[in-house]
Amino acid sequence: MYNIENDIERVLVSEEELKKICDDLAAKLTAEYGDSGRPMILVCILKGSFVFAAEVFKRLRFPCAIEFMKVSSYGGGTDSSGFIQVHLDLKRDVKDADVVLVEDIVDSGRTLEKLSQLLANRGAHSVKCCTLLDKPERRVVNFNADFVGRVVPDVFVVGFGLDYDEKYRNLPYVGVLKPSVYQQ
Ligand code: XMP
Ligand code: MG
Repeated sequence: MYNIENDIERVLVSEEELKKICDDLAAKLTAEYGDSGRPMILVCILKGSFVFAAEVFKRLRFPCAIEFMKVSSYGGGTDSSGFIQVHLDLKRDVKDADVVLVEDIVDSGRTLEKLSQLLANRGAHSVKCCTLLDKPERRVVNFNADFVGRVVPDVFVVGFGLDYDEKYRNLPYVGVLKPSVYQQ
């Protein structure tokens, strides 16, 4: 059998650490939204964040909806020229709701920057962003997530929902791929 774990050079965020990160982020979301009295919607950005979003979601004990979006972002050279294309949109009105965008990793920052603007324009009461991983070295726009699980260096990572060519999403940890995998 081809075991995908053989393609991993090293584990960057272990299962144990991921559990702690999800506990911590769920506690922070509870502190911020638990008593707001407003509708709260977690928006899972497909596909990469589905594992992470589920882990955070199942730790929350206050009323909270989950919705899904699939988008692609295209870069331009400057802050304003990047744009996003929406492939799958929300099935619910976000007007007057507290929205938390849940992302697997913030890289250039374009996706969350544009998506936050889009949902704010639809009349959300607030839009904040929760990301499992953050690669600040790669940022090209002035964007910072409100809730960050773990800052990572500029290496390509897979697992816990993150993929390379649709593989490795099912790994229970976040790992660094062996360069031979993408060089072949
Ligand atoms: P932005 O708009 O912040 O987009 O550039 C972030 C998206 O880029 C992808 N991405 C990665 N995916 N391993 C992955 O599997 C990585 O190391 C990585 N870095 C960036 C990812 O789709 C994320 O949502
Ligand atoms: Mg993604």
